[in-house]
Amino acid sequence: MSLVFRWTTFDVTSQLPGNWQHEIKVVAARADFREFPRTPILSREAEHVPNVPRGRVHAHQVRHSLPWLYRLYRGRFLALAQEACTERAVPARDDRYGVVLNVQRGTTMRFECHVDSNPMTGLLFCTDHLAGAGGELIFGNDPAAADIDAVETDCTVIRPHAGHIILFDGRRHPHYARPLVAESDVRIVAVMNFYTESCPESARPPELNRHLFGDG
Ligand SMILES: [Fe+2]
Repeated sequence: MSLVFRWTTFDVTSQLPGNWQHEIKVVAARADFREFPRTPILSREAEHVPNVPRGRVHAHQVRHSLPWLYRLYRGRFLALAQEACTERAVPARDDRYGVVLNVQRGTTMRFECHVDSNPMTGLLFCTDHLAGAGGELIFGNDPAAADIDAVETDCTVIRPHAGHIILFDGRRHPHYARPLVAESDVRIVAVMNFYTESCPESARPPELNRHLFGDG
């Protein structure tokens, strides 16, 4: 059954350091660029897709290189997540996945189609992408959509706008980021996980941590 996806947007430009975009771009250039194997349980990629290429700046690198982003995640952005959530929202206790950067460079990378395990996700868009440039965030309105083609059939399209944060519950609606159109283009987004009492961090599937970090 189709259920239109909804989200909340805030323009947080005035809360970011003056040179925030440059700082993020410098860190993103050192991302771990490679083929990432499909995520257990949560992937909504077609059966024949074993991995998806992209770049990732791991949480410990974000904490070390972009301390203001780590602080905002646990401070002002947490307060915004609270605005968008009917329950009390808390940041992740485990610093391995609290806030990371996802990076797409050129035309071959995209972000895996998946559903979230955490009840509230915040995305801070760090780059702008004009209409037709690719890099849109796509949410399938149909929770049963099981691959990109199905998601695209009935979807909500969000164009990244630098300095805007969006907050949403992505547990039901499969979502992915389209590839960029220009070889020279770069897309950067900061991803933040929040938890609630009814869906706490302790309920995070152990397969996810084994997949990402090699342990439970
Ligand atoms: Fe997600």
